[in-house]
Amino acid sequence: MAVGESLVQPAAKPAQASGELGKPITTAAAWTATSALAEKEQWILELSPQQVEEILEATTHATSTGKPVQEVTRADFPLPTLAPILESIRQSVLFGRGFQLIRAGWRMHPQVGHVKNLTGNNNTFGVRVYLTSAAQPWHVDASDIVSLLCLKTARSGGRSGWASGVSIYNRVLAERPDLLEELTKPVPYTRYGEVNKGEKPYYEQPVFNFYQGHFQISVNDLVAGQSQQLPGIPRISDKQLEAIKYVASLAADPELHLEWDLQPGDIQLLNNWTNLHNRTEIDDHEDINDRRHLLRIWRVSDDGQPLDPAYHNATNPIGRRGIVLEGQQDTVPLEAE
Ligand SMILES: [Fe+2]
Repeated sequence: MAVGESLVQPAAKPAQASGELGKPITTAAAWTATSALAEKEQWILELSPQQVEEILEATTHATSTGKPVQEVTRADFPLPTLAPILESIRQSVLFGRGFQLIRAGWRMHPQVGHVKNLTGNNNTFGVRVYLTSAAQPWHVDASDIVSLLCLKTARSGGRSGWASGVSIYNRVLAERPDLLEELTKPVPYTRYGEVNKGEKPYYEQPVFNFYQGHFQISVNDLVAGQSQQLPGIPRISDKQLEAIKYVASLAADPELHLEWDLQPGDIQLLNNWTNLHNRTEIDDHEDINDRRHLLRIWRVSDDGQPLDPAYHNATNPIGRRGIVLEGQQDTVPLEAE
């Protein structure tokens, strides 16, 4: 089978991670390292030189429209042979296994958020980890799909990991069902001061959530612990903290996650509601121009799974664009700020 051919087939299972609290989930999103590594050709797409050429031609066409990047549509970016393959990948990330790697082996420059070490190794409470060289604990972001494009690698480190939240849930069910109730209780997290009028300085999300039958995981043991310093924040009990830390420890189990050293031209796509992700500590280059550089897109899909209102906020009614502040303009800087 030619590389990529399997990607245009429909997903083997109708596998959005749907289910019911207390029962195991057996969809394709319940992958393990063993099962995923056995079918690597299904989730790694190596773009051929012709496919790369197709993207370059589409880029030239999109540039010729003169539109700002955030206004470029599918029609402005014609991909006659790649489009059906990319749609199949989108379906698989949203409703199937929940992740994908695309290897282009060249340096593309689409835009959006930058992940770059601008502050040095900094574990200070209140500093966003993605702007530092510190390790990122297992966590989720706030959009249907989290995608990273690697432009430059660090001297070493910055290894990317992702874990099946669904398999973690199944493991809790099998090994520590006594913690299940704790894991459905809301966990308060700081908003890092990014608070709109009328909002609390924290938000609350349970670790396991079944909203309209759709499974969703959310956890960050480090931020949950640190957030307890925030005045007025609801207290989490010792048992709840034990449960949160247990989930984080399951994500670290080599059988429940995959790791990848992203190379320039690699794109990582994750379903954010069914996976956790992390990053190891970065040993970066001295010269800021040589440092590890990733571009991140938080992708919202109209057909993504319904979200519990706990994930919404006043200016972000569908809860899918990260933290959105009033008056904030969408900008697309070409360098990290
Ligand atoms: Fe993240």
